Amino acid sequence: KDLNGKVAFVTGGASGIGLGLVRAFLNQGMNVVVADIRDDHLEEATQLLYEHGSHCHFMRLDVADRTAMAAAADEAERVFGKVHILCNNAGVGSHLPMDIATYADWDWTLGVNLGGVINGIVSFLPRLLRHGEGGHIVNTSSMAGLTPLPSWGGIYSTSKFAVRGLSDSLRLTLGPRGIGVTTLCPGLTRSNIRESEKVRPPALASNTADGAPEGSFAHTGMDPQELGEAVVRAIKRNDGYVLAHGENRASVQAEFDEVMSYFSMEPVTDPDRLNAMSGYEQ
Ligand code: NAI
Repeated sequence: KDLNGKVAFVTGGASGIGLGLVRAFLNQGMNVVVADIRDDHLEEATQLLYEHGSHCHFMRLDVADRTAMAAAADEAERVFGKVHILCNNAGVGSHLPMDIATYADWDWTLGVNLGGVINGIVSFLPRLLRHGEGGHIVNTSSMAGLTPLPSWGGIYSTSKFAVRGLSDSLRLTLGPRGIGVTTLCPGLTRSNIRESEKVRPPALASNTADGAPEGSFAHTGMDPQELGEAVVRAIKRNDGYVLAHGENRASVQAEFDEVMSYFSMEPVTDPDRLNAMSGYEQ
């Protein structure tokens, strides 16, 4: 796929992994909409990407706001004509122990991490299908969407498992229609995700204490632009996943092995049960 001249829309695009995606797309000669909820991140990104001039368009967007997402899609089309690549990347790294979390804690994390992806799909997918030039959707899940985190990461893992499931189903749905879907599952990547509480809406405030182990989400890890370049390669090959963090491979393998170990080994011979599965399995 030649991405030159095509248009990408990246949520959470003004920081961390989103900014890495933006840079990688600009390297391909694309036009990019950088959408983010934080004004300071947008200002910094505007300066960092200054040299790209009119190839970048910046906008303030809360992905959890459905009306705003539809307006953002309108604005992107007004500025660049069409959107070809949608990156539902915005996410918050909440560390709210699931055993003591409030409804506000659940609603905030799921509203952004899962709701934001759904809102992106509902607003943009009909437009991607309508223009007929093909397209690609990249949804940012996480290693925490493959291997569950304990208590303090439980709400986050719930959201990221959901994004992975959504993406895999969407890939099956859209493959035959010329739209690729890739699930991005990063491991530790340099970003500002520790500051997520700053963007929690006051209406969803709660007193649940941050339960993350000290230093576990330090600003260390992979360079986001390296991850962005891996995503570009995955889009070109229409890969289902980007799993660029080899250091997490063994734990994912152990997780899948454990799930498989629970399968019944009893052979199924009942024709009713076998017939009932046809149409559901790939
Ligand atoms: P980041 O905090 O540097 O970037 C996320 C951006 O999203 C920020 O600029 C923030 O202002 C924006 N944002 C937050 N809520 C928003 C909303 N409601 N609407 C629009 N924008 C919003 O963090 P990072 O790490 O780059 O996060 C990007 C994605 O990567 C997230 O989905 C995160 O869960 C995921 N991820 C990050 C990992 C890491 O190690 N940094 C590992 C695995 C997944």
